[in-house]
Amino acid sequence: MNSTLSESTKIRVPLVDLKRQYYSIKEEIDSAIQDVLENQSFILGPQVKEFEKLFASYCNTKHAIGVSSGTDALLLALKSLGIGNGDEVITSPFTFFATVGSICNTGATPVFVDIDPESYNIRPDLIKKRINKNTKAIIPVHLYGQCADMDPILEIAKKHNIKVIEDAAQAIGAEYKDRKSGSMGDLGCFSFFPSKNLGGFGDGGMVTCNSDELAEMIYMLRVHGGKPKNYYPVLGINGRLDTIQAAVLTKKLKYIDLWSEKRRQKASYYTQKMEELDLTTPKVISSNKHVFHLYVIKIKERDRLVEHLKANNIDCAVHYPIPQHLQKCLAYLGYKEGDFPEAEKATKEILSLPIFPEITKEEQAYIISTINAFF
Ligand SMILES: Cc1ncc(COP(=O)(O)O)c(C=O)c1O
Repeated sequence: MNSTLSESTKIRVPLVDLKRQYYSIKEEIDSAIQDVLENQSFILGPQVKEFEKLFASYCNTKHAIGVSSGTDALLLALKSLGIGNGDEVITSPFTFFATVGSICNTGATPVFVDIDPESYNIRPDLIKKRINKNTKAIIPVHLYGQCADMDPILEIAKKHNIKVIEDAAQAIGAEYKDRKSGSMGDLGCFSFFPSKNLGGFGDGGMVTCNSDELAEMIYMLRVHGGKPKNYYPVLGINGRLDTIQAAVLTKKLKYIDLWSEKRRQKASYYTQKMEELDLTTPKVISSNKHVFHLYVIKIKERDRLVEHLKANNIDCAVHYPIPQHLQKCLAYLGYKEGDFPEAEKATKEILSLPIFPEITKEEQAYIISTINAFF
């Protein structure tokens, strides 16, 4: 049977369409950018401080420090804790590479713990076994927009006197037991990569925390480690949030809860319509408020479904096809296939379907009927 629709009935559905969001608030955004152009204060202009204040208040944290990307947020968070050579940091092998790359870039060693196959997040009960005298931090990743099981993680960390850095790059606004992502650990890291739920017009990131000392250190580390100017007590990087990004993001932050609600509605429509099919829809853990940065299904015949969706003009993607412990640049760590079976299995079966606040019912219905035709 040919399950591909005729050319005339096909519509093209992108994984994400950033233009729709831009055009919905174009005037506000354009005028915010125009203000920066007129001020010409491109580096740490007043909009950066303003955005930091709004962001900290949104996350219920005392501090928020604007940085150059989600990756640099992680690097600076690690550096602010003094993590480096000889230290170990526990994290998930099922994440975007930046979580792991930033650990390695401090000189520390990433130590992996397998995931829960339903939430795709790190399994707290497996963390204990990997803690030793060199363990300095745990980085739980709130994957796809759903928080990791934070209470047991925080408890283990407290018991062993190690720090917790939340990788909340995909999870702005997500909640765990009514607590906001980025507000539970010692530090929270966010990404404003354009396709993220709160996306800038280029790279950008944020570190949140409640500690005055850590905040002070991150302010310093993002300007090469300098304070006062030209004196460098610590070694930092050029890691500031750009003023234009801060201006754009300030305007967008007002809409984030509305956009998250729309994502949840779109996700629930998919889930409802695909309930009967031989695939696994995303599981929302009862203590969580999911923000559906990605809508990820699990299906044995994943690769065949990818081909089918492509043939019908539907974009989809695999987040992520290779578990991080099997990356070539990490071969020196000595991990092998079979070490983290759940993470490895997930990489072979998961598939992200188009989701963004502006996706239409017609587009979603087309995706669902195309998947139905696959079966
Ligand atoms: C889980 C996770 N961590 C870290 C990052 C890094 O963020 P950025 O691309 O802003 O450097 C991303 C996003 O790309 C991510 O998804």
